Amino acid sequence: MLNRRNFLTAAVGVAAAAGLSACAKEDEGGSSGSSGGGSKKITLGFSQVGSESGWRSANTDSIKSAAKEAGYNLKFSDAQQKQENQISAIRSYIAQKVDVIAFSPVVVTGWDAVLKEAKAAKIPVILTDRSVETKDESLFVTLVGSDFTDEGRRAAKILEKVLDKAGHKGKVKIAQLEGTTGAAPAIERAKGFKEIMDAEHKDDWEIVVTQTGDFTRAGGKQVMAAFLQSNPDINVLYAHNDDMAIGAIQSIEAAGKKPGKDILIVSVDGVKDGFVAMSEGKINAIVECNPLLGPQLMEVVQTVKDGGTVERWIKTKESDFMQDQAKDALPTRKY
Ligand code: AHR
Repeated sequence: MLNRRNFLTAAVGVAAAAGLSACAKEDEGGSSGSSGGGSKKITLGFSQVGSESGWRSANTDSIKSAAKEAGYNLKFSDAQQKQENQISAIRSYIAQKVDVIAFSPVVVTGWDAVLKEAKAAKIPVILTDRSVETKDESLFVTLVGSDFTDEGRRAAKILEKVLDKAGHKGKVKIAQLEGTTGAAPAIERAKGFKEIMDAEHKDDWEIVVTQTGDFTRAGGKQVMAAFLQSNPDINVLYAHNDDMAIGAIQSIEAAGKKPGKDILIVSVDGVKDGFVAMSEGKINAIVECNPLLGPQLMEVVQTVKDGGTVERWIKTKESDFMQDQAKDALPTRKY
């Protein structure tokens, strides 16, 4: 995972990486558009996490359309939330001698071996969306993505506003729906939230139950139903993404409770369906996580190919939304 130390390692030269691409083979097929630099099309191998959420669909669309726009030959694969599928995809991109490999790692650990193979093959690797844990900083060039720990902090801060607005008095009994176990956004969103909770609300807030819903609607629905059985006094839900919150809403309603009133809900992402639920009064606040990373990723790919310098972590800009902003924001949501 990126920590403060390597974040502060602001800029990393990638001249070597550009030289490496000389070994990439000429690609047939691919997309039309303005070719990124020179006559030879850049071939980008991209391994996506899966198609678990609305966020992920928007992210996939963004990557595919930005690659097309940039005139790159994109080799895309969907790992269906399995690390072994991502490792196979990366190995296949190495075998095909693509120019650059990018991927969004499903979990943070277990990447060193395959990343060393990419390095040995002189293929630069760019992380997008999620980070990895490694002691060897040379195994990837940069991360293009959000600060998930900060999203967790923002979720706690916006919950303060939600409680205030609802005139909530007494203990805050929180149920947490975590993302995929071992994934950077699950680990870091939990960490950032707890940091604020422990520092500022030790006496009145408590996470009474927490479990993964794997970032899916079905997971959110099933786990929330179990939460309500074991802890019927829950009055807040913190969901690591909108899809799990939407699934949970179905279980809350099935239990005869009102989402957004009996159980206050804060989630992360800001996909259209999340905004619809918010405009219906069922989600109280959303911390945005922007999935439209394609254009930025393609720029970085070009810079790496050209031997330019990129930041070690290219952070995404994001906002927070309260329920009363939902109706106005909905028509212009891009994903
Ligand atoms: O890594 C980003 C997270 O992955 C999104 O918040 C979630 O919806 C997705 O599945």
